[in-house]
Amino acid sequence: MARYRIAVIPGDGIGPEVMEACLHVLGALEEAYGGLSLEFIELEAGDRVKAEKGVALPEETLRGIKSADAALFAAAGETAGEVIIPIRRRLDLYANVRPAKAYPGVPGAREGVDLIIVRENTEGLYVGVEGRGPDWGVSMRVTTLKASERIAHYAFQLAEKLGRRKVTAVHKANVLRATCGLFLEACRRVAEDYPGIEYEEMLVDACALKLASKPEDFDILLTPNLFGDILSDEAAALIGGLGMAPSGNIGDRYAVFEPVHGSAPDIAGRGIANPMAMILSASMMLRWLGEVEAADALERTVSRYLRRGPLTPDLGGAAGTMDVALGIARLIREAF
Ligand code: NAI
Ligand code: MG
Repeated sequence: MARYRIAVIPGDGIGPEVMEACLHVLGALEEAYGGLSLEFIELEAGDRVKAEKGVALPEETLRGIKSADAALFAAAGETAGEVIIPIRRRLDLYANVRPAKAYPGVPGAREGVDLIIVRENTEGLYVGVEGRGPDWGVSMRVTTLKASERIAHYAFQLAEKLGRRKVTAVHKANVLRATCGLFLEACRRVAEDYPGIEYEEMLVDACALKLASKPEDFDILLTPNLFGDILSDEAAALIGGLGMAPSGNIGDRYAVFEPVHGSAPDIAGRGIANPMAMILSASMMLRWLGEVEAADALERTVSRYLRRGPLTPDLGGAAGTMDVALGIARLIREAF
């Protein structure tokens, strides 16, 4: 039997609520499916631990992630930038993979949307090199050939692995000549190594428009850091909202899977957060661990559940977070 140690970081706000739901579903999968053994180690990060210990990301948490086979992170609040950005950079999780798939039956989801945003996760405008005076501010945007080629290879290899047909490089090279220019050169060069995959380029503003008007035309979007962040929230709107959008932060050694959403303070503590994004992130984790069958089974079950409900309020229903988890767990038990 395959055994895995999974680092679990519930964090703040709705984080612990969606994590509890996710772990309940994983527990049911482990029991029903048989071939899987998961050991969870809980770690702290976010606003709460900062208030207690003075740091939002304790070294112990980083060590815990490194000692595990993979990690699940729910959400941090105001300290999100002090948690997830250092995790990405210090563990070199250079690929941020954000699939946007419209499941049938989800209110607000646009039929036919099935795209994946592959976002460069370590540089760009997120390097944190900034200056500030009383009446001016500067943020440095850094692009390197190494990081650009690495993320481009990741996108094309993902396309090959998943049988996808097209990679769209998203840029603003007409204005940001130095940084986006270099990014685009890297993408073009790498594209030549993958003649079987169609390659196109699109300005980020045109891409934002097309994402709203003809999203079914997209397959894999390859983006610098900030553009991928923005476009993935837009993509979430096409599939029923942030409660439906999972993601993975993936490197060559480590990976941390998390919903795209944050701590949602406006609904925290009420038990009504949609746990789907967290559960689908766990399914991405299983796939990354090589547990493709278990990941497929989980996604099929989520898809079946979404067609019948009951769903949480963000999807027009009246169910609670744990109602959804219990419902999915029940379907898992029925399926095996
Ligand atoms: P948010 O994603 O927390 O919430 C945006 C809106 O979507 C809210 O109306 C919220 O209720 C709704 N929403 C989000 N997830 C949902 C779910 N699972 N089910 C139902 N509704 C959901 O983003 P916002 O409001 O911009 O930020 C809130 C806090 O989260 C901030 O403190 C921010 O720093 C943090 N944040 C953390 C992130 C992370 O941990 N990676 C990412 C984004 C924001
Ligand atoms: Mg974001």
